[in-house]
Amino acid sequence: MSRIAGKFALVTGASSGIGAACARRLAADGAHLALWARRADRLEALAAELEKAHGTRVSTAAVDVRDRAAVERAAAALVAAGVVPDILVNNAGLAAGLAKLHEGDPDDWDRMIDTNLKGLLYVSRAVIPHMVRAGRGHIVNIGSIAGHQVYPMGNVYNASKFAVKALSEGMSVDLLGTPLRVSSVDPGHVRSEFASVRYAGDEARVDTLYQGFRPLSPDDVAEVVSYVVNAPEHVTLTDVIVMPTAQRSVHHIHREEPA
Ligand SMILES: NC(=O)c1ccc[n+]([C@@H]2O[C@H](COP(=O)([O-])OP(=O)(O)OC[C@H]3O[C@@H](n4cnc5c(N)ncnc54)[C@H](OP(=O)(O)O)[C@@H]3O)[C@@H](O)[C@H]2O)c1
Repeated sequence: MSRIAGKFALVTGASSGIGAACARRLAADGAHLALWARRADRLEALAAELEKAHGTRVSTAAVDVRDRAAVERAAAALVAAGVVPDILVNNAGLAAGLAKLHEGDPDDWDRMIDTNLKGLLYVSRAVIPHMVRAGRGHIVNIGSIAGHQVYPMGNVYNASKFAVKALSEGMSVDLLGTPLRVSSVDPGHVRSEFASVRYAGDEARVDTLYQGFRPLSPDDVAEVVSYVVNAPEHVTLTDVIVMPTAQRSVHHIHREEPA
């Protein structure tokens, strides 16, 4: 049974990976969708697929979450169309590079902080007040195991995801006394476009990252998000860490030797 049939979900970073998988899963649960990301062509193809498969209403908008004015315009357009999201999945994010802090590229730092941290803030600030006024809403922030433990050369990505963890906790306590719920879903390794983005398209390096173990798929994470948003209204899963079985921490991965 789906508790979110007919509800409205806004998913950021819906053009790929976990965001696209959440869109598919929430549409299968009967939710209507608003999909945001920069690659509009991908969003439109996904919207057409989901409208056909599930008869659900899907709107798309080319939104760079780093652009505060664009975020505010897109949120205002939704509200003007009579849509206040019941569910907000703050998923847009990335890792850029992997380098020691003292050797890191400040442009990579800006991309991560502007997207993972400030982008999440801009979207939350533009959308949550409408949820508060409507007296309903569930915010799901996609954090990471990298927001619980640091690893060598993860520094700024780690910091951005530690910040997401703090913001999930912060917005949750700020919404105490309202019916709004806040959840954080924090995955370990997920095979999406994430590593290709981090390594700037170096696919050999991507393959090495996942060598000898089975990472999560975006669908695995979407299934957890669906579970979280389908919980009864008096139940909140505040922080769900979801890991591949072969991974027990950022430092512990069991890799099978090639046969
Ligand atoms: N993959 C992992 O191992 C892993 C583990 C833990 C947590 N996570 C987190 O999961 C989230 C999704 O990552 P993923 O694995 O699904 O990676 P992905 O396949 O690369 O997807 C990232 C999504 O974020 C969007 N995005 C990036 N920058 C954006 C911006 N400035 N404005 C709007 N959208 C933007 C991308 O869309 P456009 O490029 O079209 O804008 C894309 O849809 C991220 O927050 C990531 O930190 C990933």
